[in-house]
Amino acid sequence: MKHSSTSIILPAVLAIAIAAGCSNSLSPQDRLTVNDKKINEIIAQMTLEEKVEMLHSKTNMSSEGVPRLGIQDIKYTDGPFGIREENGEGFRPLGWTLDSATYFPTGSALAATWSKELAYKNGWAMGKEGRLRGKDIILGPAINIQRLPVGGRTYEYLSEDPVLAARLSVEYTIGSQEAGTAVCLKHYALNNQETNRGSVNVIADERTMREIYLKPFEAAVKEGGAMCVMPAYNKVNGYYCSENAHLNNEILRGEWGFKGMTVSDWGGTHSTMGAALGGLCVQMTGDNYFGQALIDSVRNGALDEAVVDAKVREILRLRFAIEPVPEDVANTVMTSQPETQKIAYEIAQKSIVLLKNEAGNLPIAKDVKKIAVIGQNAVLTTAAGGIGAGVKTLYEISPLEGISKRAAEAGIEVTYAPGYKSYSMRMGWGRQAEQTDPLIAKSTDEPADPALLAEAVALAKEADMVLFFGGTNKSIETEGSDRKNIDLPCGQNEIIQALYEANPNVATVLISGGPTDLRTLDKYSPAIVQGWWNGLEGGTALAEVLFGDIAPSGKLPFTFPLKLEDSPAYATGSFPGNRSGEDLFTLMYRLDATGYTREQIQEYIASLPDPVSEYKEGILVGYRWFETKEVPVMYAFGHGLSYVDFEYGELSCRQKKDRIQVSFALRNLGDMEADEVAQLYVRRIGSKVERPLKELEAFDRITLKAGETKKVTLEFPVSELEHWDNATDGWVLEPGKIEILVGAASDDIRQSIMTEI
Ligand code: BGC
Repeated sequence: MKHSSTSIILPAVLAIAIAAGCSNSLSPQDRLTVNDKKINEIIAQMTLEEKVEMLHSKTNMSSEGVPRLGIQDIKYTDGPFGIREENGEGFRPLGWTLDSATYFPTGSALAATWSKELAYKNGWAMGKEGRLRGKDIILGPAINIQRLPVGGRTYEYLSEDPVLAARLSVEYTIGSQEAGTAVCLKHYALNNQETNRGSVNVIADERTMREIYLKPFEAAVKEGGAMCVMPAYNKVNGYYCSENAHLNNEILRGEWGFKGMTVSDWGGTHSTMGAALGGLCVQMTGDNYFGQALIDSVRNGALDEAVVDAKVREILRLRFAIEPVPEDVANTVMTSQPETQKIAYEIAQKSIVLLKNEAGNLPIAKDVKKIAVIGQNAVLTTAAGGIGAGVKTLYEISPLEGISKRAAEAGIEVTYAPGYKSYSMRMGWGRQAEQTDPLIAKSTDEPADPALLAEAVALAKEADMVLFFGGTNKSIETEGSDRKNIDLPCGQNEIIQALYEANPNVATVLISGGPTDLRTLDKYSPAIVQGWWNGLEGGTALAEVLFGDIAPSGKLPFTFPLKLEDSPAYATGSFPGNRSGEDLFTLMYRLDATGYTREQIQEYIASLPDPVSEYKEGILVGYRWFETKEVPVMYAFGHGLSYVDFEYGELSCRQKKDRIQVSFALRNLGDMEADEVAQLYVRRIGSKVERPLKELEAFDRITLKAGETKKVTLEFPVSELEHWDNATDGWVLEPGKIEILVGAASDDIRQSIMTEI
């Protein structure tokens, strides 16, 4: 339905101006309340039916405004890495021509930049494209902690570390909202696995929640001013997130001062009264709980209408802060634009991680005249797939395209062979993969194909250098299921061994979003690069790094364990819990993406016990676990090499008001410009409470010309050192000695200094 644009809506700029003029002392959340007087007047004019109409989906990506009062609908869009194509019933693409968006590097790639500036730009670019498409809310960023190496959405999420995830989430949020599109932080909270995500009861103690899993949400709400939050599918400590009063009312609204709206994950609403009292504003999708049933609950006296009013108020706050895009303006130009493409490119350039370069195989030597590119991941595009996070990209430069273009400029010949079959869950809507396709494997553990292997080895022998493209794909790492393991699929280990034996001048590029088991590959690949799912200019950026036009500068946002069983959730026996296999929720709710019938799924679900996931490792997530328990890893959190070396000078430390500042000189010892991500960790001495060996507190990305030295200052608030005390249910600052450790990675500390708080 088309609504009048001459409404009582304040333009976003005006709303911000009022907020700024009102008082600079208003917190980002309180700025959302500047129109409350007007909003209350509107609510007073609304019927109960009109109010409830706002509290559930209108289409699968919108909810109703107040048509009678000229208040426009709220339009939502996935997702974190690109404005999703227009789709209709059952999420089927509508086939528009102007809805091709920019495909941005996925979450772990963005996080590998460790760049607050790029996170801001990413958010800003998404916000810009959101407005071109007439959207009010982006369903993102996705900021859950990467608890599991096998996690189907690990690639969507940012980091295993809450400080890194928090800093980037804040900037993404500010960027998007400054561009005029609200963010919807997802998935709140503790949605760290896809296995049974629609029903799993996550058991975690309050300290673990506060110090690890809630941190990025808290920062993006309090500092970033996030206007919308998406309660997740799962339960936390017994209650579905969409009706979890502790999470939504006590913590989010009560403690963090959230003034915006909440919207359940799609299909994640489970009751009327529970969700109404448990802090949910909008049921997505459907109206079986927040439709007539809600009206009846008010009319029969079970629910105070003030509860409904509060939800409407929160929605209208967002509606007033975000200027609706007039319908005749939206979708008049292509969603993806050169200025936003450039941002995706810049992120890709700075995200690529050089894991290993022991024989100096990279950058590609000047005397290389012929390169054999082996592996289907060099040609398979990565924008589409993964359900909600897939992007209909305007274009995508594959690694092979990027390399071929750059090689041609240098007069280098490039040959290509697929090397291995690629696992594909399905092709297109509901259609099973064509099992006779010679390049598609039936399962991820299928061994190498002898003919493909022989072809690859022949090319490797003829070439001066081999670039092997391994890793996973979006059928393997995807929303709705977790990986069975982190093994390289489809015989990739056999292939790399054969390639190395044919030609030891090999470098491997891993195209994946999460970690993989590199125990075999490491033996046969003297150089390894983590290349991610890196957006529409990913292939261009990769070629620049491989050819040495730019130095690699990404750092791992998560640990590569030696083997899966070492990782905390496995080592403590808390994953996969008491139910494993496919994600039942996706099977039932997203039939569009699965192909099964509802009856088949319902029967299966009814036969299963309730799943539980107990976070037994507590606060020892990711590197906190490996370091504290002295478990060796393949590549540590924060690791990433460059083509140059950096020298870290002595540290000086001072406490300024409530902040700790650490300064040092950083010098580029090499002969090319390069970026370094300097990392600051804190180790508590003689603490009376359980602590990890050390924790990240601050970081910065610094660009240094060849031979250049810069003074670097890293700082963090003393309050970051507080721990959550389960006994008194509050934050406590334990005084005592701390050691500040600064270096290039969690396992590459260069300088340290003691201080006291
Ligand atoms: C996903 C969300 C997504 C929503 C809408 C859900 O399945 O969990 O991340 O935003 O669908 O597509």
